[in-house]
Amino acid sequence: MLAWGRPASEEESNAARMDAARRLTEYFVGIIADRRGGSADSADVTTSIVNSEVELDGVTRQMTDQELGNLFHLLAIAGLHTTQGSLAWGLAYLADRPEQRQRLLDEPTLLPSVIEEVLRIEAAVSPGRKAMRDTELGGAPVRAGDQLLCILAGANRDEREFASATDLLVDRVPNRHLSFGAGPHRCIGSHLARVELAIAFGELNRRIPDYRLDPDGSVVSHGSQTRGVIRMPILFTPETVSH
Ligand code: HEM
Repeated sequence: MLAWGRPASEEESNAARMDAARRLTEYFVGIIADRRGGSADSADVTTSIVNSEVELDGVTRQMTDQELGNLFHLLAIAGLHTTQGSLAWGLAYLADRPEQRQRLLDEPTLLPSVIEEVLRIEAAVSPGRKAMRDTELGGAPVRAGDQLLCILAGANRDEREFASATDLLVDRVPNRHLSFGAGPHRCIGSHLARVELAIAFGELNRRIPDYRLDPDGSVVSHGSQTRGVIRMPILFTPETVSH
């Protein structure tokens, strides 16, 4: 157990991650064993997934325990740091831009476009890809087998698509950002994420209209392909808080 206030060492963070992953895996092993042998038409989505057949490499079969474990693991964690990170980046941007924030308070109907703009300007995820064939991207040669890190925030700041791309514009429409990816692996949780962000942003701005980042408290973010924050202290005047 860490003493509050002392940052974890890299070894401690890795050990905590491994332990959490192991416990999550154990949980899913139990769930899969429990649901095996049920009906693929079950109203219980988990039972239905466990007993459905999929076509993989030309063979129709049920998924192995390992494949199902990976699937459930991804489903469980994919919506955590992503949504939390987007919420944190949104607060940080709006804290720095009182005039944009005031517009949101004056015109609550702007909330959906604020959320799209926050998603655009600080894309939470940088997915990895492996090139299947030789090609060229933006003039750079890519060879079959190359590993790529797709910085979606970069695509989202392409001036050919977004005017004043580095500015946060709460009324930006259209906003064809790529923060949820594209193609067959496009985020399956994007609708849920938008609902969560709308509730959290809407309530935070309504109830704590004068928050600002604490100048003495540094923001600590996760250095990984998913950019959430560990810590982001804010200050506000208790008298201005409404319930
Ligand atoms: C702001 C919040 C979120 C962002 C920015 C985000 C972003 C992304 C991106 C960029 C991908 C594509 C990854 C790739 O192409 O390799 C993805 C995939 C995925 N997301 Fe999200 N996501 C968010 C929230 C959620 C939520 C709330 C859930 C579910 C509870 C979720 C579940 C998934 C899953 C399961 C995939 C994998 C889909 C597949 O491989 O077919 N995400 N997400």
